[in-house]
Amino acid sequence: MNEDQLKNTVNAMMAPGKGLLAADESSNTCNKRFEAVGLETTEENRRQYRQLLLTTDGIEGFLSGVILYDETIRQKDDSGTPFAEVLKQKGIIPGIKVDMGAKDLALHQGEKVTEGLDGLRERFAEYAEMGAGFAKWRAVIMIQSDDLPSEACLHANSHAMARYAALAQEAGIVPIVEPEVLLDGDHSIERCYEATGRTLKALFHSLKDQGVMLEGTILKASMVLSGKDASDRADVQTVAQQTVKCLIEHVPHNVGGVVFLSGGQGEEEATAHLDAMNKIGNTPWGLTFSYSRAIQNPVLKLWAEGDKEKAAMAYLHRGKANSLASRGQWSEDFEQNRPY
Ligand code: G3H
Repeated sequence: MNEDQLKNTVNAMMAPGKGLLAADESSNTCNKRFEAVGLETTEENRRQYRQLLLTTDGIEGFLSGVILYDETIRQKDDSGTPFAEVLKQKGIIPGIKVDMGAKDLALHQGEKVTEGLDGLRERFAEYAEMGAGFAKWRAVIMIQSDDLPSEACLHANSHAMARYAALAQEAGIVPIVEPEVLLDGDHSIERCYEATGRTLKALFHSLKDQGVMLEGTILKASMVLSGKDASDRADVQTVAQQTVKCLIEHVPHNVGGVVFLSGGQGEEEATAHLDAMNKIGNTPWGLTFSYSRAIQNPVLKLWAEGDKEKAAMAYLHRGKANSLASRGQWSEDFEQNRPY
């Protein structure tokens, strides 16, 4: 393991005022989002849409990295330059999603385990060759009923994620570990706190077992939130306080950095939460964004309407908003100049 290489990549990913764009939706998920806005689900359409995300002038001001899907890392822009190269020329690190998705966990109804370890060493070698500096593996944790998540689910997902992380570091690639506690359900924020805490405890236990270097690892966390169908949802300040508290209690201080998924929050909601956490400050790691929907939703809508210029403006606006939030410098006033 080349520790210096991993630490350098982590430092670049966590550069102040920057964050990650998650553009790693599988073709299936991307197609569902295309269908929702009336777009044809072709490989060429996916390439053209992602071309906007990867080539828009100015994104280098707020993005340190972009997470790509296997199809995208193999694609090129209109001039024939591979997308990974396009990003590098902008000083943005290309990353790659390597898990093969969450599958039903046997004998545990309603729970999932993420697969994708088979052949991963060889896939990492190929992705490193293509220029990937970091990778992502996502596990999904449900809390819709009182007895979830089970210890079996937490253990199976943590073990797989730790083995993935070890293989990534062996290949000189920084692993992002993403145990997403889903927003689905009507649970309270306290219940989310408890489930998130157990999830993080199991994950860091497994990472230690597998000898993963935490300074060369990024945690992609879900925020501690009330369920999306809860009747009395916690406000921004409470979410920020509970999320920071839960992370400080469960995440070792030497982890390279913490980035957040948006998980179905609204665009401004995700920005406001990140901003409020950074206004609290004093965390041992940087806290920034790694959003997909909370950045892309307005962009995709405008792109589908054929307004490419406005789509790019919306993209830059959300990027700037989250960049400010990653420094605790965003305010609602910024949204009054929203170009969409
Ligand atoms: O794995 C999920 C993505 O990386 C983040 O997506 O921001 O839409 O939750 P999201």
